[in-house]
Amino acid sequence: MVGIDQVLEKLSTVIDPDLKKDIVSMGMIKDLELNDGNLKFTLELTTPACPFNVEIEDDVRKAIGELKELKNFDMKVTAKVMEGRSLEADTSMATVKNIIGVASGKGGVGKSTVSLNLALALSQAGAKVGLLDADIYGPSIPLMLGMKSAYMDVENNKLQPAKSHGLQVVSFGFFAEQSHQAAIYRGPIISGILKQFLVDTNWSDLDYLIVDLPPGTGDIPLTLAQTIPITGILVVTTPQDVASNVAVKAIGMFEKLNVPILGVVENMSYFICPTCNEKHYIFGEGGARKISEQFKIPFLGEIPLNSGIMAGSDLGKPIIITNPDSPSAIAFRSSAKNIAAQCSILAAKMQEEMKSESENKPADDSPQTN
Ligand SMILES: Nc1ncnc2c1ncn2[C@@H]1O[C@H](COP(=O)(O)OP(=O)(O)OP(=O)(O)O)[C@@H](O)[C@H]1O
Ligand SMILES: [Mg+2]
Repeated sequence: MVGIDQVLEKLSTVIDPDLKKDIVSMGMIKDLELNDGNLKFTLELTTPACPFNVEIEDDVRKAIGELKELKNFDMKVTAKVMEGRSLEADTSMATVKNIIGVASGKGGVGKSTVSLNLALALSQAGAKVGLLDADIYGPSIPLMLGMKSAYMDVENNKLQPAKSHGLQVVSFGFFAEQSHQAAIYRGPIISGILKQFLVDTNWSDLDYLIVDLPPGTGDIPLTLAQTIPITGILVVTTPQDVASNVAVKAIGMFEKLNVPILGVVENMSYFICPTCNEKHYIFGEGGARKISEQFKIPFLGEIPLNSGIMAGSDLGKPIIITNPDSPSAIAFRSSAKNIAAQCSILAAKMQEEMKSESENKPADDSPQTN
């Protein structure tokens, strides 16, 4: 009769392609029960947006299928997002597992569009997601979500995020709209507002908080990098050389501040001709890939140009919701999966480092003297 050891041995032949580790040592097998040849367990993926969920499930079925003496096999698949930021030193945002800053060197490359569609793609995959519009001078998320008249409540001195399409949303636009004032504050005040949005908001159990940053390397990106531990930065660029060149500056700043770079997404990469269906690289080709090679950071996707994105943004209708089968929506979902995978990779690395630190720490069992 098959024993638990044989089951675990078979399961440990299954490797998570992103984490490059076997699923048993990663703790992805839960509630394993084996009774009289009937096997039952839960496969717990590290994110509901796992790019390899189908492959991993297939590999598990194949591995278990080799145990010929098993009578029955029942697998439940769930996901629990890993904590990708260290809460050891700072627990002020303990309900948020991952914080992803979306940055670029140059304005207008599509940070807000990518942030919003990425947040929606992760949420549609089953994750709990927040979206913080950190562009305090020029908030665009309320318009893009059709939430111009929304507002945030304050409860027990904490901001309550507004809700839209399952997302928890915070934007200065909600306040600016109420007061009909443009933000004309100086750096320290702007930094203070962002800190409040981060720390004094009632984020309720988020797997991912996406922070849409203004362009460049000014006070707001700097404040994000220095206020709380974040998982990493997603760099958005377009194929033009000028956008790629300034993206390099933004990457340099975050690297100097020891903030991990999750990778780069290229927006407006190509245009799909509606008549011949061919891809046209109008603005040149390979800009973001070059950055990814130069800095050894992952290339996480390319989003095609689509006039529907712009029209939908102005009407508060994100393409991933209004046209989920369009090539742009498909590209957003694929990039979102790659980004979620990078968060899991960084989380696993962080856990490994913490484990080896605690193993190397000398045991404090020396006798106490008074
Ligand atoms: N893939 C795309 N295809 C077509 N239009 C796009 C695409 N991505 C973004 N846009 C449009 O380009 C404009 C700029 O996009 P967006 O506001 O997202 O950029 P941004 O980087 O956030 O700008 P800013 O630096 O001002 O914050 C918007 O009108 C948006 O609808
Ligand atoms: Mg923007």
